[in-house]
Amino acid sequence: MNTPDLKVDIAGLTLKNPVMVASGTFGYGPEYADLVDLNRLGAIVVKGISPWPTKGNEPPRTVEVASGLINAIGLQNPGFDGFVKEYMPFLRKYDVPVIVNIWGRTIEDYEEVAGRFDDVEGVAGLEVNVSCPNIKEGSCVFGSNPDMFKRVIAAVRKKTKLTLIPKLAPDIAAIGTYAAAAEECGADAISLINSIPAMAIDVETRRAILGNRTGGLSGPAIKPIAVKMVWEAAKAVKIPIIGIGGIYSAEDALEFIIAGASAVAIGTANFTQPSTAVDVVAGISNYLERNGIARVGQLVGSLEA
Ligand SMILES: Cc1cc2nc3c(=O)[nH]c(=O)nc-3n(C[C@H](O)[C@H](O)[C@H](O)COP(=O)(O)O)c2cc1C
Repeated sequence: MNTPDLKVDIAGLTLKNPVMVASGTFGYGPEYADLVDLNRLGAIVVKGISPWPTKGNEPPRTVEVASGLINAIGLQNPGFDGFVKEYMPFLRKYDVPVIVNIWGRTIEDYEEVAGRFDDVEGVAGLEVNVSCPNIKEGSCVFGSNPDMFKRVIAAVRKKTKLTLIPKLAPDIAAIGTYAAAAEECGADAISLINSIPAMAIDVETRRAILGNRTGGLSGPAIKPIAVKMVWEAAKAVKIPIIGIGGIYSAEDALEFIIAGASAVAIGTANFTQPSTAVDVVAGISNYLERNGIARVGQLVGSLEA
């Protein structure tokens, strides 16, 4: 059998393979470039960018818990100008699609940052974070209210021709509703899930461990929840889905693909094993070959009844 075809098409954006790195877990690219051949990734999703620079939350910002990590970074970033100046010249040197994760506090912020990225050479798509659990205003509100969600996605759609990917909040009860709303508002794809609101307490001091008190849980603990949400979302939409949540191996990624994801993104695993994404690419290829499957696309949503 020939080498399996790993190419994925996301509304006209072609990825060499279905394995991306998730926003906030891979910096802006240079941080990992000595450890991973960036050209072997399906895409790089950079950390969330707002119109202005943001300092983020007080430390501690992360805490390890059983089978996962709780983080409350607070969307620290250099802002649109800082990112474009500092990081885009570096990213343009690579043959890998760059997807910029964006966020704001108001609909106008989202419109502004989306519109400005349209003219930036080397940006292939926008992932819209409406689901960060770690800031007090904006973002989260949009992801947990269907009307606000539709308003922000429709507004961003008007401002950009780039591949538009709303990132859904992990709303267990209504994930299909948000997925369908994204499609209705002109999204090209959706990604899910973001980290799940969580908390850890030091019983000796009776204080919350994180400076922000609460944060978002990611890592192996959330994978089965994320797989279920991808499966639910896939029933609600025709646009491609990017599955995220606790992927550490090719088998993990394959679960998402069989549940209905056209591509996946590796998050927390990058912190412990930076080669995870490229290892997952090799593992998926191996699985396809072993099972006589010519194209990864044939596996998408192939869950047996
Ligand atoms: C430290 C950290 C920072 C993150 N920053 C962002 C971010 O800026 N924007 C965003 O949409 N998601 C952010 N995320 C969420 C991840 O992209 C991903 O959706 C989530 O961690 C679940 O995947 P995982 O279990 O593989 O990590 C962040 C996650 C972590 C752990």
